[in-house]
Amino acid sequence: MACLFRRAIAEQVSQVLGLPPEKIVPRIHAVPVHRKKESPDFQLYVNSMPEGNIDTACHKENAQKLASKLATNSVISEIGTGRGCVTFKINRDLLTKTVLKKITQDGSLYGINSELLSNTPKGLTVVEYSSPNIAKKFHVGHLRSTIIGNFIANLKEALGFKVIRMNYLGDWGFQFGLVGAGFSKYGCEEKLKANPLQHLFEVYVKVSAASEKDEDMKQSAQDFMLRLENGNPQALSLWTHFRDLSIEEYAKVYNRLGVQFDEYSGESFYKEKANDVLKLLKNKGILKTTGDGKGVVDLSEQGDLSAYSVVMRSDGTSLYITRDLAAAIDRMERYAFNEMIYVTDKSQQTHFEHLFKILEILGKEQVGNCQHVKFGRVQGMHTRKGDVIFLEDVLDEARSRMLQNMANSKTSKTTEDPSDTAEKVGIAALIVQDLKGPLVNDYRFYWDQALQSYGDTGVFLQYTHARLHSLLNLWDTREKEEFDANCLQDPSVTSTLRHLLRYDEVIHKTLKELQPRYLVSYLMGLSHLANVAHHSIHVKGSSPDVAHARLLFFNNIRVVLASGMRLLGITPVDKM
Ligand code: ARG
Repeated sequence: MACLFRRAIAEQVSQVLGLPPEKIVPRIHAVPVHRKKESPDFQLYVNSMPEGNIDTACHKENAQKLASKLATNSVISEIGTGRGCVTFKINRDLLTKTVLKKITQDGSLYGINSELLSNTPKGLTVVEYSSPNIAKKFHVGHLRSTIIGNFIANLKEALGFKVIRMNYLGDWGFQFGLVGAGFSKYGCEEKLKANPLQHLFEVYVKVSAASEKDEDMKQSAQDFMLRLENGNPQALSLWTHFRDLSIEEYAKVYNRLGVQFDEYSGESFYKEKANDVLKLLKNKGILKTTGDGKGVVDLSEQGDLSAYSVVMRSDGTSLYITRDLAAAIDRMERYAFNEMIYVTDKSQQTHFEHLFKILEILGKEQVGNCQHVKFGRVQGMHTRKGDVIFLEDVLDEARSRMLQNMANSKTSKTTEDPSDTAEKVGIAALIVQDLKGPLVNDYRFYWDQALQSYGDTGVFLQYTHARLHSLLNLWDTREKEEFDANCLQDPSVTSTLRHLLRYDEVIHKTLKELQPRYLVSYLMGLSHLANVAHHSIHVKGSSPDVAHARLLFFNNIRVVLASGMRLLGITPVDKM
């Protein structure tokens, strides 16, 4: 596919410039398909070339000079120039055969096993995402973290990285003092078992309110927290009970979303180790004390505390960042990871900057491989119950709205389990809405917009996938690899094949920048092209050879679409 063509181009260029082909291959780009304009298949920018026998001062002239030294052959049918670049057109017959054969052979690995990606160093990646706080709201920020983190983990895993998916729960803090102290008064074991997340939150809200007015309540919450901190067995056993039931339910809801974790870690794991961190900072002379008794680390250039991070309260207890320091050091030792990625909203940017800086001061070299992937806020996401408090409510809302839309739609097919289909399509809508823009942008969420069946939505991707899948019923049992390329000369086919040439480059860019929007927009483009082709070339009523070649073409689009959707975290539906 693209690689073979890039190779053929690179070999020629290599002879002219005296550079090894491997240096040239990554600089040859498949040209995006324009709906109206005819364009070449590949381009090579002269100014992007590293060194070699070409004087890059005047790109235009150089592009022409380079082009004049290259010759067409059985692979390259046309050579031309554009602004600062040499352009190439591939022999049409070969394009059709090669791309379709490659997808048929590689299936869901198409594009992923490309030469472009094979040089990426792949090691152990820890991706930490979702990380909600037990007994508190699961807010939209946690939903975004879940969707984005899952996407990053999927992408890396597909490309051959070993990935550890980690959930770092907010499972320690004053909310446990409150629910621990108030559970006997406001809690109910049956309700807790039936719906732990909801019930714990209810108790939390009630005790919180009570402790505002009632000093005794406040005192007993503080006492409970102290007992927890001191390792009182009864207090700890209640806390463990809350934590275990919560994780069990989280796992169920994550499962609906197609999300799994290898590890449920949490702040509670590091309550003691955080004290070790404080000792370490003290021993190294890094811990400074402020006038009011707080422990801080100086982060200023000048060493004048003009910038600092608080790592210890005046009563000597640790903070969120102290636990994060302990957690990072622990993971460095335990996993010897090649990279660690934290996914949270951008309000935590300073937190992570401080965290990384302190790790650096501590001489932890692996901090160079730690990264904070930050994202913007979502406004306006409500469910029938109001503001988002539980992930489950968002998923229920997406499903019920989608079910309604499907019931109102004339084109909906009867599916065996409409509710399951609606869930998968609804979730696709949430995911695409979340991943289609630059991650750091804020956006406003509208259910109607996210659930539209046309436009750049997850519903559109699912529709396209289902439509392509339905064609498979027409396929006979003949050998799937053989087909007659002459049956695939329609311009709509060529455009689609050219778009398919770009898949590996898009994955490459998505990986490099960790920005899913490139992949989302690629899949939207693929779906549009598939729909145009579906209107232009028919399967029903065509001769067996023509029908076969076209079915193979449509199935290959479906395979690539499905594999891209899976990377995003979407489960493609076969019917809707
Ligand atoms: N529980 C935190 C919150 O809800 C997010 C944790 C992010 N991860 C971390 N290592 N600090 O804000």
